[in-house]
Amino acid sequence: MLIRRPADVLPSEITPREVYLNRRQWMAGAAGLALSAALPLGLEAAPLSAAKSPFSTDEKKTSREDVTSYNNYYEFGTGKEDPAAHAGTLKTAPWTVNVDGMVGKPASFAVEELIKSSALEERIYRMRCVEGWSMVIPWVGFPLADLIKRVEPLGSAKYVAFETAYRPEEMSGVQSMFPVLDWPYVEGLRLDEAMNPLAILAVGLYGETLPNQNGAPIRLVVPWKYGFKGIKSITRISFVEKQPETSWNRQAPGEYGFYANVNPSVDHPRWSQATERRIGEGGLFVKRRPTLMFNGYADQVASLYTGMDLRKFY
Ligand code: MTE
Repeated sequence: MLIRRPADVLPSEITPREVYLNRRQWMAGAAGLALSAALPLGLEAAPLSAAKSPFSTDEKKTSREDVTSYNNYYEFGTGKEDPAAHAGTLKTAPWTVNVDGMVGKPASFAVEELIKSSALEERIYRMRCVEGWSMVIPWVGFPLADLIKRVEPLGSAKYVAFETAYRPEEMSGVQSMFPVLDWPYVEGLRLDEAMNPLAILAVGLYGETLPNQNGAPIRLVVPWKYGFKGIKSITRISFVEKQPETSWNRQAPGEYGFYANVNPSVDHPRWSQATERRIGEGGLFVKRRPTLMFNGYADQVASLYTGMDLRKFY
């Protein structure tokens, strides 16, 4: 099922941002989940202004329609249409990201504050899902390194662990008797990977705040890794000494490694990773594209893995 945005003017275009963000909270709170679930998701988008980034690809962008209606977000179901249909129940404002562990300055950040105090950039990135499809998405966000510098990691911090919100009452997929994953969804990066300028925390796409199905209000984007690294709706970031557990590795360790670097020469045990289908390039006879090492970002990231056997550390 596709949820379409109303064709007429968005409230974000005619109402001051603060007023309408407050109205959003009121709608989610006073009117209750049933009503907010019934609201068209597009109503929630607020414009974000962002500088252009030299890290952007000039490849053709995947349509907003495809980016926001073909998703993976298992907390709202396992179907590609489930997140767009069901993620409207997640209350994304107010929202706090707690940063803890081996840091000099542990902190709780309100997302609104993070957005105001960060130099937002538009980063048009190629994204590759482990399932064999790809998209080109114009994210709006800021370098993860900027947030890391604010909290002053200690010398003992070697990894960064991320956690998604766990709210069974707002997440229909989490209520299942037979959960697909252990909740909350968790992911991790090595600290030097997290500091790489390509790694961003995204707060928007296509010039507006993130739709819920894409991980509102804040999610990780690591374009040289398979999409499952891009943990959505983050509530906690911890600096740790040992490699943290990750949801998909826990679920199927033989299929999903900690590193998850896009690598056309290391097949998934059940299918090849040599090629990809670009979403939106329709038609029966459209050729699959060759998948590029590190998703085409080798120049910027290959040095992170010098001397590592990438078949072992997949
Ligand atoms: N984050 C959470 N919390 N739950 C999920 O199920 N799915 C991952 C990742 N982040 C997922 C998640 C997977 S498998 C992919 S491919 C991307 O989100 C998809 O991001 P998109 O829907 O914005 O394209």
